Formats: sequence, C-alpha cells, structure tokens
Amino acid sequence: MTDNTQNPILRVKNLTIDIPTATGTLHAVRGIDFDLMRGETLCIVGESGSGKSLTSLALMGLLGRAIRPQADVMDFERTALLEASPKTLRSLRGARMSMIFQEPMTSLNPSYTIGDQLMEALLIHGGTSRKTARGRAIELLQKVGITAAESRLSQFPHQLSGGLRQRVMIAMALMCEPELIIADEPTTALDVTIQAQILRLLVDLQAEMGMALILITHDLGVVARIADKVAVMYAGALVETGPTADLFAAPSHPYPRGLLNCIPLPGKPDRCETGHYCGHRALPRGGGLGLHLPHQM
Ligand SMILES: Nc1ncnc2c1ncn2[C@@H]1O[C@H](COP(=O)(O)OP(=O)(O)O)[C@@H](O)[C@H]1O
Ligand SMILES: [Mg+2]
Repeated sequence: MTDNTQNPILRVKNLTIDIPTATGTLHAVRGIDFDLMRGETLCIVGESGSGKSLTSLALMGLLGRAIRPQADVMDFERTALLEASPKTLRSLRGARMSMIFQEPMTSLNPSYTIGDQLMEALLIHGGTSRKTARGRAIELLQKVGITAAESRLSQFPHQLSGGLRQRVMIAMALMCEPELIIADEPTTALDVTIQAQILRLLVDLQAEMGMALILITHDLGVVARIADKVAVMYAGALVETGPTADLFAAPSHPYPRGLLNCIPLPGKPDRCETGHYCGHRALPRGGGLGLHLPHQM
C-alpha cells in the first residue's frame, strides 16, 4: 500500500557510477533520479549491461572499494548513504534494507547451515536471543512456503533445490522486517514454472509486511501487474520513469516502445524480433491492470 503523505523512504538524485577500466572510464550509470515511498513497488527494467545491478549495489553500499558511486542525493530516510560509515551501512543492511540476488548459491554461504544464516542477521542486529531467532527462522521458512521448516534449519544450501534456496534467500531478507527490499532479477536462475511462484510469494509478502520493493526484472508482464512505477534504464541512463500505467499507455522513448513490442499476445510468437525471450505468455491484455496497450501489439 502506497502512502503518499509521507516523505520518500528512498531518494536518489543524479546517481553516477564511473568505473575505471584499462581502456578508460566506463560511465556505467549516468546521473539517474528516482524516489520511492513506503510500501511502494518500483520495477527497474532495461537490457543487460544497462546499469541495473550496479545501481542496486550502490544503494546497498555493496560496490566495494574500487567503484565509488556519486550522487547529489542518495538518502534512505534520513541517512545519506554515500556519507554513511561502514558501520552505519552494516546496521542498515539486513535490518532495514535487504537485497535478494539473482543466484542464491552465490549469496548463501555453502559452509553454514540454513538456520545459522537465517538467524545471523537477527543475532547481529536485533539483540535477540538464539531461541527467539530460531523461532523466527522457522516462522519465516513457513511463510515462504517451505515445509518441514524445522528440519531445514540444519541443512546446508547444497541440499536444497534452486527454488528452495531462493525461498530461503527471501526468508533471510525478511528476517528483520526491512522497510526496503531490493530484488535483482530474483527468479532468472530458476525454472520458468518456479519463477512465477517465487515472484507471487515476494509480492504477497510485500503486501502483508508493507515494505517498499525495488524489483529488477525482464518480465514486463510482472511489471504491469505489480509495479506502482517503472524506471527504464538504457546504457546507464534512466530513459523513462513514471507510473506504470503511463509507461504502458504511451512510452515516449524508443527503447521502452521496443520492450513493449516484445510482449507476446495470443497468436504471436513468444520471441520478439530481437530474439529476446519475454516469457509472459499468460499476460492478459493490458497486463491485468486494465491498461490499454497499443493495437499493433
Ligand atoms: N566490477 C565491474 N568492473 C567493470 N565493469 C563493470 C563492473 N560491474 C559492472 N560493470 C559494467 O557496468 C555495466 C553495467 O553493469 P550492470 O549494472 O551489472 O548491468 P545490468 O545489471 O543492467 O545487466 C556493464 O557494462 C558491466 O559490464
Ligand atoms: Mg544485473
């Protein structure tokens, strides 16, 4: 639920990420602006290499020492993220803002049990007892649809399927009831049948817990169904940003127009001319929002 009477939970103005490379500076993100209100869903779409992951890593303070993002404003509530100390950022991450990555196997630690990893954030941030943290871990695993939750706690990541691992990642992101979740193509590594289940889960939990969500996705069907607003990135720039209905009604930039032309409709192949697989064949016309899509689509 969006509450527009409040200040944005996240405010970004002129975020720029330059990466020094052997052949010169790569202007990977070129001065992007956006705001996010409490409980709001922003979907970021854009082709591979357009700067989506770098943007989310910059927000989380996870770019590492070599890459220094710059911005006129990059505030999470009252915290200026770019000026925050590593300690402040650590206390925000996991507790008030958390991230779900594309490939859970690279973000889960293979040598710790699911239970230890789930409880870690709470034990670090919350001043919580182990017993309470364990109870919360079981509760969250059940919430993300994992059966026999208690017995999963002692398992290691490799003992779980990809879909289960991604559910665990979602549970982990939710342990401290963050106000903001950033999910970077959270289902791309999963089977198509599981992708929809996981996204549905994420969106249901968001509605239940009221957190703001930044979802990076290729799937315009998902965007049409869940986004309050959309940011379209192209070559490091935000070429279009605004309410979802506006983008679907009349995209102004050729890139989002091209993307929209990728939406397969009954009787059309599921690959667009560029060969890009768009993967949302069941999308009702207008994406389920009662939107009017141009007739040529
Ligand atoms: N650590 C890095 N070093 C050098 N170049 C990078 C690094 N991370 C990303 N890039 C480059 O920055 C651009 C944007 O990357 P990224 O944000 O990962 O794109 P997206 O997530 O939209 O696919 C790409 O050209 C990518 O190759
Ligand atoms: Mg990416």
